[in-house]
Amino acid sequence: MEMAKIHVINHPLLQHKVSVLRDKNTGVKEFREIVGEIASLMCYEATRDLHTEDVEIETPICKATVKMIAGKKIAIVPILRAGIGMVDGITALIPNAKVGHIGLYRDPETHEPVKYYCKMPSDIAERDVLIVDPMLATGGSAVAAINFMKEYGCKNIKMMNILAAPEGIENVVKHHPEVDIYVAAIDQGLNENAYIVPGLGDAGDRIFGTK
Ligand code: PRP
Ligand code: URA
Repeated sequence: MEMAKIHVINHPLLQHKVSVLRDKNTGVKEFREIVGEIASLMCYEATRDLHTEDVEIETPICKATVKMIAGKKIAIVPILRAGIGMVDGITALIPNAKVGHIGLYRDPETHEPVKYYCKMPSDIAERDVLIVDPMLATGGSAVAAINFMKEYGCKNIKMMNILAAPEGIENVVKHHPEVDIYVAAIDQGLNENAYIVPGLGDAGDRIFGTK
């Protein structure tokens, strides 16, 4: 079986924006905007292997054969809530992508993911899937989300997170070794509440201002 690749995108523009997210003094408006910008920058990297095809066009000067994206069907699948914050930044680059939603929250005691919502495009099984969530902590949510997408028949699945803990990456690789993971940073680990250290706190609360 093909092994997953872990892509750490350590471009200076991205690293700067991640550092602003980490700062506890960054407010909701700025946090939300920067999550979107980071998602765009990461999407640029995660779509590097998209296929192009030759297309005949006419420039104002002459006929030309140019490259265009070959009609690949893509679905972006945010894990609710925090994943929603990444969607607009990605659809800005892939306007025709469809969006499926998976609602998961971590049980505060067990840290196990609990599913409460799921709505996918009808042709999801034919689409390449990009699951997005700012945080990959224990990896429980990511593993569950990938399981759901496989149950829908999806074959080509990628995962995109802003911050990851080594434990979360290990968990995803163990259960879904073929899934490529794109992250902006891999942090030290998890604290006793399974929060990423140093991390950025609770991504959902910081995007939606719920704390
Ligand atoms: C956060 C985050 C991930 C999950 C990561 O969501 O957005 O979905 O935790 O943790 P894990 O890797 O240990 O599963 P949370 O459960 O806080 O829900 P929310 O987005 O609704 O706040
Ligand atoms: N979920 C978050 O929002 N932050 C963490 O650090 C871990 C899980």
